[in-house]
Order: sequence, then C-alpha cells, then structure tokens
Amino acid sequence: MNKLLHKDLLGIQQLTAEEISLILDTADTMRTILEQGNKKVPHLTGKSITTLFYENSTRTRLSFELASKYMSAASANVAVASSSVAKGESLLDTAKTIDQMGTDILIIRHSMSGAPHFVAKHVKASIINAGDGVNEHPTQALLDALTIRRHKGGFAGLKVAIVGDIRHSRVARSNIFLLNKMGATVSIGGPATLLPQDLKQFGVAVYENVEDAIKDADIVMGLRIQNERIGGNLFPSVREYARFFGIDKARLALAKEDALLMHPGPVNRGVELTSEVVDDDQSFILEQVTNGVAVRMAVMYLLSRTDRKEQA
Ligand code: CP
Repeated sequence: MNKLLHKDLLGIQQLTAEEISLILDTADTMRTILEQGNKKVPHLTGKSITTLFYENSTRTRLSFELASKYMSAASANVAVASSSVAKGESLLDTAKTIDQMGTDILIIRHSMSGAPHFVAKHVKASIINAGDGVNEHPTQALLDALTIRRHKGGFAGLKVAIVGDIRHSRVARSNIFLLNKMGATVSIGGPATLLPQDLKQFGVAVYENVEDAIKDADIVMGLRIQNERIGGNLFPSVREYARFFGIDKARLALAKEDALLMHPGPVNRGVELTSEVVDDDQSFILEQVTNGVAVRMAVMYLLSRTDRKEQA
C-alpha cells in the first residue's frame, strides 16, 4: 500500500492497520529529512493548506503550519476570534468560503464532536481532524505511535497504560483505537468519575486506581484534566487528584524499568505529572512534539496524493 484510502483524515477509527503503518513509515522518512536540517522540500509545491481552529492550540496548530511551510505549500491560518465567525458565520459557511478560495487541505479543530466529519461531506478540500470535542485527535495518536515504534520497534505485546481524565479525552479514544488495531494491550486508570461507562467495549482493562493500570507497563501515558469539557465537580480538589492519581516517581517505578513516560501536552505540572517525572530521562514528551511535525508532514503529503476521481 502506498496511498491512503480516503480524501480526509477524520479519525483513527476510519484507518486500517496498513494505512497507519504507511503514515508511520512516511513520518520516519520526514523525520530523517528534518534531522538532515532540510526545512524546504518540494512535496507540497503548488498546494494550499488552511488551519481553522475554534479551540486553543500550540502544538497541533503550529506543527501543521510549520509542516506545510517545510513542504513548500502556500499556508494560511484563519484566526477564528477575529474572523467573520465573530459576526455569526456558521462553521459550514466558513468552510465553504475557504474551500472556494482553492485550499487543498483544511485542518479543523472544533469543540463539537463530528464537526470535521460534517464539513468533509460538503467541501472538495481534504479535511484533517485536529481534535473534535471528546471524539478523536487522530494526528496526536499517530505521533504517539511514532514515538512508541521508534523506541520499542513495534506494538505487538506492548502494555500501554493511559492514566487520568479518560472520559473527556479525544487523545485517549484515538490512542485506544490505534493501539488495539496495532496489537498492543491497553490498561486505563483514573477516578471512576473520569472513566466513561462504556469503556470495556473498547477491549481495554479498566482500573479505578493508577497503580494497577501502570504495573509492568511498557508505556505510561498521562492525560490532562480537560477542565474546558468538565461540567461539574468530578473530583474533590486538584490537590487530592494529584495525590491519588498523579504520576510521580514512585508510581512510575511500578512500570517496566525501560518504560516511556508520555503526555500529549500541555502538561499541568504538579497535577497529572510531577515536575520531577516531566523532566526525567524517562520522559519522551518533547520527542512527541518533534514527532508531531513529521507525522503532520506525512499525513498532508499522503492526503495530497489520494485519488479524488476514484472517490467521487
Ligand atoms: N496535544 C495537543 O493537542 O496540544 P495543543 O492543544 O497545544 O495543540
């Protein structure tokens, strides 16, 4: 396989294991290009890329923008707060307007689950989901997978512990889908109020404490408490959360000796992770950021090569 099957990247759920491997192989090549110091390659010459983020972002938006520029695309960002969205223009009208200007790839982050899927049905551009509500964040799971594969060689037989606010996390959902497809086992740990009711249907082991989830893990992935999506009080206090569910040196020591500590960022130091573990040699959080650029280069390059005629 050397092409993706669909014009859009809406979620890991829609990808096959072969497509995931193709993206990771391509991202490895992109990483090599970047490591050689080459930040101007012709892969997207003649293409136009637009980012449209209705929610805040540092890593995702900037890495898409840099990846577009590194591959010689014409790139633009719609600053939503100062755009005609503030005058009441709908998501669909905004997307159709951008589409009409000839953008080839439109990257959308939105607080509503399913927003990119809805837009994809109405525009010619390829849509990339950069995070939709509590649904998916596919490029985050892909960059996490690249980080894991580069250090562990593959996924089969690995135990990945995902710890924290699972209920409101699109990162957790995309990672669970990806790791299941690639043959890893996933254990989940967190307070009962931050675990979704239907979690077991995804084939993961669920623990209401962090220690059991982390025990003997190859990868320990911490998650941010998604305060922007939490309606009421789901735990007594941040201090209590940190005490019972935060990842510190002692809890991390329950994982395998060579376990990787990961986190999608942004990290709330002293809440989900102590500063000591964030800055430790076992932490791969900054490498995740580096891999994010390579993965987004790979995804945009592969989408630019999908056969639109076949799909029409
Ligand atoms: N991990 C992640 O999506 O980070 P940003 O919100 O900074 O893009």
